[in-house]
Amino acid sequence: MDVGALFLKAAAYAAEFRRSVDDRPQRPVYDYPQALAAFSEELPENGVPVDDVLDSLVARAEPGLHMPTGPRFFGWVMGGSHPAGVAADFLTSAWGQNTGNHVVAPAAAAVEAVAARWLLELLDLPRESSVGFATGATMANFTCLAAARGAVLRAVDWDADTQGLFGAPQITVVIGDDAHTTIFSALQFLGLGHDRVLRVATDAQGRMLPDAFADIFGSISGPSIAILQAGQINTGACDDFTKLVPIAKSHGVWVHVDGAFGLWAQVSPERRALTRGIGLADSWAADGHKWLQTPYDCGYAIVRDELAHRRAMTIAASYLPLAAEGERDPSHYVPELSRRARGFATWSMIKHLGRDGIAALVDRNCEAAQVMAENLMREPGIEVVNDVVLNQVIVRFGSDRAMDEADSMTRRTIARLQRDGTVFAAGAVWRQRLVMRMSLINYQTDARQAKIAAHAIIEAYRNVWQENDLA
Ligand SMILES: Cc1ncc(COP(=O)(O)O)c(C=O)c1O
Repeated sequence: MDVGALFLKAAAYAAEFRRSVDDRPQRPVYDYPQALAAFSEELPENGVPVDDVLDSLVARAEPGLHMPTGPRFFGWVMGGSHPAGVAADFLTSAWGQNTGNHVVAPAAAAVEAVAARWLLELLDLPRESSVGFATGATMANFTCLAAARGAVLRAVDWDADTQGLFGAPQITVVIGDDAHTTIFSALQFLGLGHDRVLRVATDAQGRMLPDAFADIFGSISGPSIAILQAGQINTGACDDFTKLVPIAKSHGVWVHVDGAFGLWAQVSPERRALTRGIGLADSWAADGHKWLQTPYDCGYAIVRDELAHRRAMTIAASYLPLAAEGERDPSHYVPELSRRARGFATWSMIKHLGRDGIAALVDRNCEAAQVMAENLMREPGIEVVNDVVLNQVIVRFGSDRAMDEADSMTRRTIARLQRDGTVFAAGAVWRQRLVMRMSLINYQTDARQAKIAAHAIIEAYRNVWQENDLA
């Protein structure tokens, strides 16, 4: 096999794909059944040349690809897999490092140590914190909450790491009503139960009400964890950390912040007011594959108390050499032993963009979100539902109509827009009503792209409006 020719061919396919992303429909051509049909065949009894495998993979996969790498893809909250990170990720795969341990993978462990220090500086979090490189925010939240669980139980003389939760003192978890769904999954995985939480009422933007938060702490005692949020998935709003964290801390509560994308507001001098006070918490989760634009999978579990972090995650075995002072074993900070070397892409993205470039990227997306909102609001019948403070915009169509009719027009506008393909955005439910949610979080999305997108959205709505009123 000519490895050089094979890798060059893969790179050529990748480059051709990325060059064409702007002009492609931002949605897949195939839906899931078609994508499944494209791959479905009997188990191959005999192999085929690797060249043919690559051609076949591309032909089958490409029609089923969304375009989060494109400038007008606003679905869910998905970063753009910046070419600098992708190139580092190619090499990461080619190098094939198993990143459990500093002896097994010295460079991969070392790059994490440096990238971890850079992340703490960028996000302006306590410099003594430790950072685990996880698959994404779901596992980063899980990791941080595992550290929290261990620490709050140790404070009442219970060792959850050795004894588990059988017979353990109860832990109270306090969380906002509009927390992300994956936080509840993390609680489920940790044996804390996703329904065994005290939910705090929120305001119109999804921020916890400080009085309601304080009231809860007046009525509970014992080991407790409070989960705050930077960047509500629909509105982009951040909890008021300056008020909430001191309340929780005055009751000895561990404070965790889910900042999957919102934590990146810390990097921008223009947006930092949103996350003021966030550094007072005990742990934070953020994604690299969102605003830092690393390829998937990449999230960061950041814990102020390194010992609590390591106690929750350390994997020890007789055949695994122990890290000495100043050495980093990546597996001590996340649940996995064997995994890809996530530090290389993170290091490359920070090195390429620098602090200034990351701040400019965050600002560019937030300004694009403002432009989007301003353009849409000028059209009668389109309502921007949230206060656009970050990069999230939620919109309702037919807002001058009855609720059910507006739901139907919103649904049809989304479908029409997705069919057209200039823009991709999907539906969500906010305050019991259907909205179209847009997350502007791609390195190519700027005010110009936002205007193109707003134009396409207004066109789609006008068509639905006409169909509606002519019917
Ligand atoms: C606020 C928030 N928390 C957690 C997550 C989960 O992140 P991931 O999909 O990277 O696991 C998301 C994803 O959009 C999110 O927006």
